[in-house]
Amino acid sequence: MAKGISKKLEKTYEFPNLAHLHFLIKLYPIRAKIRSLHRSLFAAPAFLGYEGRAEVSETFEHASERYHENRWAYCENFWELKFHTCLLKQLPDKRFLNPISTITKSYDRGLFWDPRTTLPKTIELFPALASAYRFLASDEFLQRICAVSGDSIERGCYQILMTRAYWGSSVIPHIDSQNDPTRINFIMFIDGTGGDESGGLGIWGDNEFKELIFEPKILRNTCIFYDMSEAFYHGFKPMRRGTFRWTINAAYSKK
Ligand SMILES: [Fe+2]
Repeated sequence: MAKGISKKLEKTYEFPNLAHLHFLIKLYPIRAKIRSLHRSLFAAPAFLGYEGRAEVSETFEHASERYHENRWAYCENFWELKFHTCLLKQLPDKRFLNPISTITKSYDRGLFWDPRTTLPKTIELFPALASAYRFLASDEFLQRICAVSGDSIERGCYQILMTRAYWGSSVIPHIDSQNDPTRINFIMFIDGTGGDESGGLGIWGDNEFKELIFEPKILRNTCIFYDMSEAFYHGFKPMRRGTFRWTINAAYSKK
């Protein structure tokens, strides 16, 4: 759910603009059924387990000062290199995600986990991904978030998911409906084309893509995180043709 959306900008998302995505959205019920059938008929590729464990590098701590100043921060080389290489090899096939269903937040998403429940078996099919999810919900990482945020708030993770975006995908600038500055959202770019209009979730001073504050251009092993307050908007313009982007998103709230 989102608020603060510009009605004027929303109009530009109407058909015939982004026609190919409107077409895919119309086909959502059938595409969802086909993916479900595909999952049940064909076994997932057997990945070798990740021998070590997921680890976030210390570049995360380097982003602390910027977070204190702005309430958002960006870091590169987010995961330890060896682990990130393993994650890249174990990206799930798109059949494990739900197809695009809305035009103003237009990408595939899935492999949801609320860490207060058991990790779903589907995620266990991808050992590196499962390891990343467990790490993101671990006490160790929760303590690191507490230290980086510098606000002494103890947070728990309430949702982790994966997204896959492509030509035309976008998120209209908005403020999260929770509007709770104690909540922090992480968007971890696992892999992506990078460059302009390639799905780097930006921080904006307005809701019409006019006042850019920051837009990530490197979408391979980078991360942007921000508090869910009204201090700024977040979103990204429709991705240019030929681009792609995979993310893991994790959200944290006060315990
Ligand atoms: Fe949002």
